[in-house]
Amino acid sequence: MHPMLNIAIRAARSAGNIIIRSLQHVEHLEVTTKGRNDFVSDVDRLAEQEIINIIRKSYPDHAILAEESGGVGENEIVWVIDPLDGTANFLHGFPHYCVSVGIMVRGRIEHGVIYDPLRDELFTATRGAGAQLNDRRLRVTKQKTLSGSLIATGFPFKYHEHFPAYLATFNAVFPEVSDLRRGGSAALDLAYVAAGRVDGYWEIGLQKWDLAAGVLLVEEAGGIVSDFTGGDKYIENGNLVVGNMAVHQQLLKQITPHLTTELKK
Ligand code: IPD
Ligand code: CA
Ligand code: CA
Repeated sequence: MHPMLNIAIRAARSAGNIIIRSLQHVEHLEVTTKGRNDFVSDVDRLAEQEIINIIRKSYPDHAILAEESGGVGENEIVWVIDPLDGTANFLHGFPHYCVSVGIMVRGRIEHGVIYDPLRDELFTATRGAGAQLNDRRLRVTKQKTLSGSLIATGFPFKYHEHFPAYLATFNAVFPEVSDLRRGGSAALDLAYVAAGRVDGYWEIGLQKWDLAAGVLLVEEAGGIVSDFTGGDKYIENGNLVVGNMAVHQQLLKQITPHLTTELKK
C-alpha cells in the first residue's frame, strides 16, 4: 500500500472515531450557519483538525484543502478533506455520513479514502490499483439500461438558483429508472456506485472535498465520471454524472437537454 494512502486511512479512521464519540452529545452541539442550509458543528472542526494533524506529522510540506479551514500551503501534492460529509444527516441523527480524504498530485486525484464510521466501512482507491471496500475489490454494476436501475442523486439544497434546472433533470431521469435515492452524502453516493450498490448518480454543484476521493473510487471500480457536458471539468464545476459505461451514457442523454448556460460551463 502506498504510504500516503496509509496515512489517509489512519486519518479518516481517527476522524471517524471522533464523530462516533460525539454522538452521545449531538443534541448539545453548537451549530453555526456557513450559508443557506449549510451548517457546521464543532465535530466537523475537531474531525478536520485531527485529519490535518495526522497528515502534518508525516507530510509537513504538503498542501491542504479542507472544507472548514480552507486552503493551506503550496505544493504539487494537495490533501482534499471533507471531515464529515453528510453534516445535515449527522445533526439530525440520520445515520448516513462519512469522512472523505482525497490526495491530488499535480491536479490529478491519485488516492482516495472514504470511511463510514457507523458501518465501519472503509473504501479505498489508488490510481491504477483498483478500489476496495475493507479489502474486497469493488466493481460497478453491469446494468445495461436505465430501466431497472437504482440511481442516486443529490438535491441542490444550498443552491436554490439551480432548482429549476435540477427538477428538469429529475423529470427526465425519474420515469426512465426503477427508483432514485437521495442519501445526503455525496461521498457515500460515489462510494456506493463504486461498490455496485447503486447503478449511477448525478448531482449539481459539489465542492472538491465532496468528490475528490469518490470519483477515483468510481473510476478504479471500472465506472465513468464526467461533468454534465460529458467532459472532465467536474473538479472545477462540481457537476457530476457517474455510472458504468452504459448507465453513464444514458443518464447524460437524459440530463444534457435541460442544462442552463451556467451548467454547461
Ligand atoms: C453535502 C452532502 C450532500 C450534498 C451536498 C454536500 P456536507 O456535504 O454531500 O449529499 O448534496 O452538495 O455539500 O455539507 O454534508 O459536507
Ligand atoms: Ca461534503
Ligand atoms: Ca462536510
